[in-house]
Amino acid sequence: MSDDVADMWAFETNRLRVGPWHEVADWLDVDLPRVVAEMLTLRTTVALPESWQGEHSVDGAKGWINERDADASMLLVIESASQRPAGILVLAEAPLHGTWVDLRIGYLIEESMWGQGLATELVSGLIEWARAQPRIRTLTGGVDPANRASVRILEKCGFGLIDGLDAGAAVYRLDVSSSNG
Ligand SMILES: CC(C)(COP(=O)(O)OP(=O)(O)OC[C@H]1O[C@@H](n2cnc3c(N)ncnc32)[C@H](O)[C@@H]1OP(=O)(O)O)[C@@H](O)C(=O)NCCC(=O)NCCS
Repeated sequence: MSDDVADMWAFETNRLRVGPWHEVADWLDVDLPRVVAEMLTLRTTVALPESWQGEHSVDGAKGWINERDADASMLLVIESASQRPAGILVLAEAPLHGTWVDLRIGYLIEESMWGQGLATELVSGLIEWARAQPRIRTLTGGVDPANRASVRILEKCGFGLIDGLDAGAAVYRLDVSSSNG
């Protein structure tokens, strides 16, 4: 991903601030590997890709962060009122025809903050941000169908199931191009 695109990857919602994880951690003056190690628990990672699963040590998180940086744009989600890390948002560009891109999305919310509507607010904020980006045509999320909370979030936010299973995941997509093309 080009630097000029990555620089734009920040948005806010009523309760959340979202931006590139290294920059946000610097701004908060927190240690990113520690934040990541605390956030990645057995419960938060059980439905995520294998490289995310299990518990992570602070030392192990350093290498893990480098691997994620090579894969995707990694954003840290902050609860504005408390300035506490609240989650991680993963955005990976897949080229489409012309200059259009599909953005593959993944997210997690810190375990103690579940059930407050934060993931719904995060995905809604992402959609609003994506609609203002000229190159983004679609947002796509792959979800384990057993992950009812995540399926519910995508459906509430207007995503539709596009086909069967992709490596065990149900694929949901939203077209955001109507207002930015
Ligand atoms: C999935 C996750 C992001 C949800 O975060 P959250 O902030 O608690 O979600 P929200 O509060 O915004 O909304 C959850 C919705 O799912 C519903 N829900 C929660 N558990 C559910 C369940 N077991 N069955 C059905 N619906 C469920 C909630 O009722 C809510 O819907 P509602 O607003 O209509 O009541 C969070 O649990 C998480 O980080 N899990 C681990 C990582 C993960 O699974 N990420 C998604 C990968 S695709």
